[in-house]
Amino acid sequence: MNLISHQINSLSGEVICPGDKSISQRILIIGFLLNSDMEVKGFLDAEDPNSTLIALNGIGASIKKDNGLIYLSKRDDYLKSPSKDLNLGNSGTGMRLILGLISGLGINATLVGDQSLSNRPMSRVIDPLRAMGVGIESNDGKAPIKVLGGDICNNFEYEMPIASAQVKSCLMIAALAANYAISIKEPKKSRDHTERMIEYFKGDIKYGDNQNKGLIKLNNKDLIPKESYDIVGDFSSASFIIVAALVSPESKVIIKNVGLNPTRNGLLKVLTLMGADIETKNVKNICNEESGDILVKSSNLNGVDIPEDIIPNIIDEIPILSIAAAFAEGTTNIKNAAELRVKESDRINAIAEGLKKLHINHEVFDDGLSITGTTGFVEINEEINSFDDHRIAMSFLIAGIRSKNGVRVKNCKNIETSFPYFKDIMNSLGMKINEKD
Ligand code: S3P
Repeated sequence: MNLISHQINSLSGEVICPGDKSISQRILIIGFLLNSDMEVKGFLDAEDPNSTLIALNGIGASIKKDNGLIYLSKRDDYLKSPSKDLNLGNSGTGMRLILGLISGLGINATLVGDQSLSNRPMSRVIDPLRAMGVGIESNDGKAPIKVLGGDICNNFEYEMPIASAQVKSCLMIAALAANYAISIKEPKKSRDHTERMIEYFKGDIKYGDNQNKGLIKLNNKDLIPKESYDIVGDFSSASFIIVAALVSPESKVIIKNVGLNPTRNGLLKVLTLMGADIETKNVKNICNEESGDILVKSSNLNGVDIPEDIIPNIIDEIPILSIAAAFAEGTTNIKNAAELRVKESDRINAIAEGLKKLHINHEVFDDGLSITGTTGFVEINEEINSFDDHRIAMSFLIAGIRSKNGVRVKNCKNIETSFPYFKDIMNSLGMKINEKD
């Protein structure tokens, strides 16, 4: 599916933020371990969480979707080695976290994914899981991954070479599934949804202590089930709406129920440094996650140097931040972001290819980009390649707002993995995104 996005005069209105993808996947997996009846509201009904749901049902879970709600049911039979491969589609989170789950449960399974997922590095989880005692075969550190079972060790200690929420979550879930303690140290703080969820279900976990920077200690204690769980909105999805409103003239948009977890919302800080007019309101705590409404108005943006420490916090937002930078006065420098090269696509390359077609001056580095923006409108003659990556597709469609003749993006199907109603929601605010052959 190819989409074209046209120049518009203004954006206005109020939208509800779709459910958080990271939290949607985690509540299914932690819910599997809770093994009790639970109703989940705000689930993101998109391809990534759905492939996690199907994979869990493949190992004996009983998870149903009905009318926008998710129902997890208590199982009699706890463990089941699946007869078929577990297909995690495009989802890195699904594959890495479920790898932790089946490793901790000691069952055998083969995990597969689509072409993009089969090219992503899995040694970052395979290596520590092997060190814990799990037998694992892989295609040279990539999927398909065959888990051969084995008992994992208690009190495993691991110092992570890279900041990754997926890696630490994989290991915490393995320990939880085996009823063991674990301690993990991360070099920089990545998103802490797993830690918060374990805390919410009364697990014995210590994390985020400033004196002990980066140390997570999970002790052996059963989690306590609850009857329901509410998922907050996905900040990463909201970020497309935020930047769309900032770069379009005379705009005023309210996004309701956006997750504002401080390990996720770094883009607000960066955009504020760039001169954005953004306010957060009605902040509340929902199931141990902050959530609030975001009011955003058109703004004249300026380029900035992105602080190094904030990179893990904005890693998924760098594609759309690049679009904000493309329409800012001056240069924005993004460094220390080499992880972008191993996401759903090589995002440094994908952003650079798109910016080239927008005629935006930029320089590419191994670990980032520097982008010199324009305060005017761009004129594009070639279509932009999404590289089958949802965040690249959505980012360049937002750039259409500031184009003289529209921005056409090839292969936008992947948007379904994280933001199925993207086109409709953006058009309801005043964007003009249409299908194009
Ligand atoms: C995610 C963690 C991040 C992020 C991904 C979702 C998660 O990946 O890029 O989209 O849900 O834990 P890494 O942990 O690999 O940095």
